[in-house]
Amino acid sequence: MEEVKSVPRHVGIIMDGNGRWATKRGKPRSYGHKKGADVIDEVATACFNNGVEVVSLYAFSTENWVRPKEEIDAIFGLLGVLIEKKLAKLIKREVKLIISGDISPLPENLRKKCLNAVKKSENFKGRVLNVALNYGSRAEIVRAVNKAIKNGKTEIKEQDVSDGLYTNGLPDVDLVIRTSGESRLSNFFLWQCAYAELYFTDVLWPDFHADELEKALEWYSGRKRRFGGV
Ligand code: IPE
Ligand code: IPE
Ligand code: MG
Repeated sequence: MEEVKSVPRHVGIIMDGNGRWATKRGKPRSYGHKKGADVIDEVATACFNNGVEVVSLYAFSTENWVRPKEEIDAIFGLLGVLIEKKLAKLIKREVKLIISGDISPLPENLRKKCLNAVKKSENFKGRVLNVALNYGSRAEIVRAVNKAIKNGKTEIKEQDVSDGLYTNGLPDVDLVIRTSGESRLSNFFLWQCAYAELYFTDVLWPDFHADELEKALEWYSGRKRRFGGV
């Protein structure tokens, strides 16, 4: 009988290495972000085609504000274009877009594009594309606890925290992929990744195409997930 491969329900991707990719080529970092933005759709589509239900992408962290304004503006500009350009495809494929993070400090036009895309896809029930934008996991957890307190809870249970996260209702992350050779989570969905398998590759994000995703999924299917058991 043919072996059935286990597929992660939820894949989280820390898209790292755009700056180094550009620097290696003597180009400005913003060029790396452009090239990085160009592979997002390919990789997300490959995830869904493989049966993944939720894809979470780390696009901008709460810590990234310390970067030069010019670079931040370039990243926001690219994200706006991407969301706008890919909205029709998301809708056609019935992918629900959610944004994890506080979008209130983002430029008005990007905020509008996010809200519009979220609204237009809010009724889809199957696949989810979750973009972590101005996202930090600790801030998210504190926010969830504060929400529970506001709702009158005096003793907080794990479920109360889960319910208050941006990912409320989604399965936990099964597989984290981080590119560019760094082996850290950088404040990415710490609660949701409690039992995630962690895949680190030296490939820089702009070079991470569908074939690299396949390798990560292949690696995942060989893992034995014990969840504390034997
Ligand atoms: C990831 O690439 C993109 C963002 C953090 C927005 P980097 O910009 O961090 O690239 P490196 O790590 O400097 O190479
Ligand atoms: C993590 O990458 C954030 C995103 C990919 C958006 P960073 O490049 O900001 O992470 P550190 O600073 O190397 O930990
Ligand atoms: Mg980086």
